Amino acid sequence: MAEATFVADRTGALRLDAAAKEERYALVRAQVDAVLEGERDLLSAMCTMVCVLHNAFPYYYWTGFYRRVGPAELRVGPYQGTMGCLSIPFARGVCGAAAREGRTQLVPDVHAFPGHIACDSASASEIVVPVFDAAGGVIAVLDVDSTLPAAFDETDQRHLEALVAKLAHLDAVP
Ligand code: SME
Repeated sequence: MAEATFVADRTGALRLDAAAKEERYALVRAQVDAVLEGERDLLSAMCTMVCVLHNAFPYYYWTGFYRRVGPAELRVGPYQGTMGCLSIPFARGVCGAAAREGRTQLVPDVHAFPGHIACDSASASEIVVPVFDAAGGVIAVLDVDSTLPAAFDETDQRHLEALVAKLAHLDAVP
C-alpha cells in the first residue's frame, strides 16, 4: 500500500465549506478505491473506510459502523472516536431509524431527535447511512457524529452513500 493516511488539521476551525468538503471527499473516495481494489473482505473494508474518513474530516468526532446481528438489533463494529454503545435496537436512536427505514438520517440537532442515544454527550449532530447487501437488505449502518451543530448536509450524504455502496458485494467472513 503506497498511500499514507491523510490527516486533517484539527487545530483551527473544524467546519469545512461546501467546496472544501467536495475536494476532501474526492480525495477520500480515490484513496478508498485505491486501497480496496480487489479486496473481498467486508470487515477489512469497513475498517479501512472508517480510518480514512475519520482522519480526513476535522468535523468528524465519532465514525463507525453498527452491524445488523439479528432481525432488529445492531451491534457496534469498527469505529474510531470515543467509546460507542455496544448494542442498539432497531426501535431506538438515529442508527435504529436508519436501519429500520433503510434511509439516511441527517440530524442537525441530536437533542431534537426523539429517541436519540447519547453514547457521548459531546455529539451535537450526526448522519447515519444504511449499508445494503447485494440483495438490498440492510446489513449495517455507518454512523458519523460531530461536536458541531448541523455539521452534515447533502454533500456528506451523497458521498457517504456512494462509499458504502462499495460494501454491497463483499464477503462477510465469520
Ligand atoms: N447517536 C446514535 C448512537 C450511536 S453513537 O452516537 C456512537 C444513535 O442515536 O443512534
